[in-house]
Amino acid sequence: MNARRVVDAALEKTVVGSFTRVGYDARRRLYDWTPLDELRLDGKTVLITGATSGLGREAATLLAAQGAHLCLVGRSQEKLDRACAELPGSETLAADLSSLAETAALADRFAATRQTLDVLVLNAGALTHEYTLTPEGYEATFATQVLSQFLLIRKLLPLLEAALDGRVIVVASGGMYLERLDVDALQPTEAAYDGVKAYSRTKRAQVALAEEWTGRLAGTNVTVNTMHPGWADTPGLRSGLPGFSRALAPVLRSPEQGADTIAWLAAAPEVAGRSGLFFLDRRARPTHRRRSTRRLDEAQERARLWELCQNATDSFSGRDSVS
Ligand SMILES: NC(=O)c1ccc[n+]([C@@H]2O[C@H](COP(=O)([O-])OP(=O)(O)OC[C@H]3O[C@@H](n4cnc5c(N)ncnc54)[C@H](OP(=O)(O)O)[C@@H]3O)[C@@H](O)[C@H]2O)c1
Repeated sequence: MNARRVVDAALEKTVVGSFTRVGYDARRRLYDWTPLDELRLDGKTVLITGATSGLGREAATLLAAQGAHLCLVGRSQEKLDRACAELPGSETLAADLSSLAETAALADRFAATRQTLDVLVLNAGALTHEYTLTPEGYEATFATQVLSQFLLIRKLLPLLEAALDGRVIVVASGGMYLERLDVDALQPTEAAYDGVKAYSRTKRAQVALAEEWTGRLAGTNVTVNTMHPGWADTPGLRSGLPGFSRALAPVLRSPEQGADTIAWLAAAPEVAGRSGLFFLDRRARPTHRRRSTRRLDEAQERARLWELCQNATDSFSGRDSVS
């Protein structure tokens, strides 16, 4: 291991050092990062969800500066109009992604006007302490961050395949290190609902699904990677974990620092063809930090998750099963 990797690995072990702006600053200097605006996306189309706030809003700004044509997705047209006014040339599509029907309609509207999609950034998400059941009967965290994302990939796959180097980037979270993959726990009852656990479990599921997509898309030009932004000072963090965000305020990352790896994954030549990985600060990281989150039957559990997602989205997909 060279000296830079040793320092990075030592940071990684500390969690706080790694996830705060300390980790971002150290790694940026250690690896002498290429400025994002040198990683060009001219002529490429990027669809990004959750583009009206926090990391998604900042990632959209970075991606626009890299030359991408943007389709901004959010649930409030008013907020989308504001974001669009600051990013001239971008287009907007509104959908509440906790609804599979709205997710499907969004994908159809996008696909009606385009043949290709270069980058799909699945960023929308929230940690909520209230239990909400969607009209389709799913717990909202799971519906928004797992089922809706699966459906978007499923429906937009032909457009990603039509791009030279189709990339899917899922914004997960370091919170996933707390939970093991457990398909049966992904849809808790109201009595058993714990917002932090539900959030962490969906993030673990996102990482597992990216690994599963990778196997199933082998031989295609489409890659699916996950990333985590560290801890960034966003409206989402402030409302989801107010005490935590106040306590760590001096060392939280800025939204731009948190979003850096999203924009990097969209364009970096060294990521082409690499899939199923979990990134922080422009490097692939381990997906487990504790033995207790590992399962001996991980592959079977991932396949169960895939089947659940496939069954839940079948009637909204308008396509035959994805193999
Ligand atoms: N900030 C952090 O430290 C941190 C750490 C780890 C992971 N993350 C992840 O990063 C992503 C972005 O979070 P953030 O911190 O930037 O939070 P944020 O400021 O609250 O932004 C979240 C975005 O997602 C959108 N969204 C939420 N639920 C939606 C739904 N049902 N349908 C459509 N859009 C929806 C929000 O729309 P509205 O504007 O309408 O609310 C907003 O645009 C999330 O996936 C989060 O889990 C963040």
